[in-house]
Formats: sequence, C-alpha cells, structure tokens
Amino acid sequence: MDPLLEAALSAREHAHAPFSHFKVGAALQDDAGRVYTGCNVENATYGLTVCAERVAVFKAISEGARKFTRVAVAADTGTLTPPCGACRQILWEFCGDIEVLLVNLEGRTESFRMKDLFPRPFDATFLD
Ligand code: THU
Repeated sequence: MDPLLEAALSAREHAHAPFSHFKVGAALQDDAGRVYTGCNVENATYGLTVCAERVAVFKAISEGARKFTRVAVAADTGTLTPPCGACRQILWEFCGDIEVLLVNLEGRTESFRMKDLFPRPFDATFLD
C-alpha cells in the first residue's frame, strides 16, 4: 500500500473521538517528501473539535513546511470519507490543487484533485 495511505490509517488510531466515535486520520506530504499526520481531536463543547486534516495542515505549517503534493484521509466508511467544508477551505488555502487520496479500513481508495472537491473558492486573491 502507498505509505501515505498507511500513515493516514496509523494516524487514525490516535483519534480522540469519545463523542462521535468516528475516527479519522490524515497524512499530508510536502514537496520534500516529508509526511505530517493528524487525527480528529474532539471536545466536550463539540464546536471546538478539530478534524484530522486541519491538525495535519497546522502541524506541517508550524514545522515550517510550505509546499505540498498530496493528502490522504482515512476513515472506516464504505463510501470513502472526504474532507469537510472547513477542511477544504484550509487545504485549498495552504496546499492549493493537491491530490486528495481517500482510504478505508478495507484498503479501498479513491483519488481526487482539490480543485474538483472545492470549485470556485474564496481565497487570498480576492483580498489583493
Ligand atoms: N472528521 C474529520 O476529522 N475529518 C473529516 O473529513 C470528516 C469529519 C471528524 C470530525 C468529528 O470528530 C468526527 O469526524 C465526526 O464528524
């Protein structure tokens, strides 16, 4: 299996999801081949929950990474779990039109481009 998918599946094991019991893992690869992982981290106030994808992006940014090539998202669903709307905004802003790989526990995978998952984005170009 692609190591990026394996990294997302492993990260999923660290999910803190005591409220939804829905565990998600993410793995983001930069242009140097480094991989930054994330899992969803839930909160008793629900609204403060952070998704796996955003944890991975913020970890990468905080460690100095700036250019990205691919992100993998792992969840235990038959219909593969795509990034939520908030994560699409963040992925677009920091990663642009990267490849988005989805995987489930059976090893089923699908691949998308961010521009197809997030058409007509609002981004920094509007603020020029
Ligand atoms: N979640 C993610 O971490 N990523 C996704 O792509 C979809 C949703 C999390 C948020 C929450 O902890 C749980 O899954 C249920 O929504």
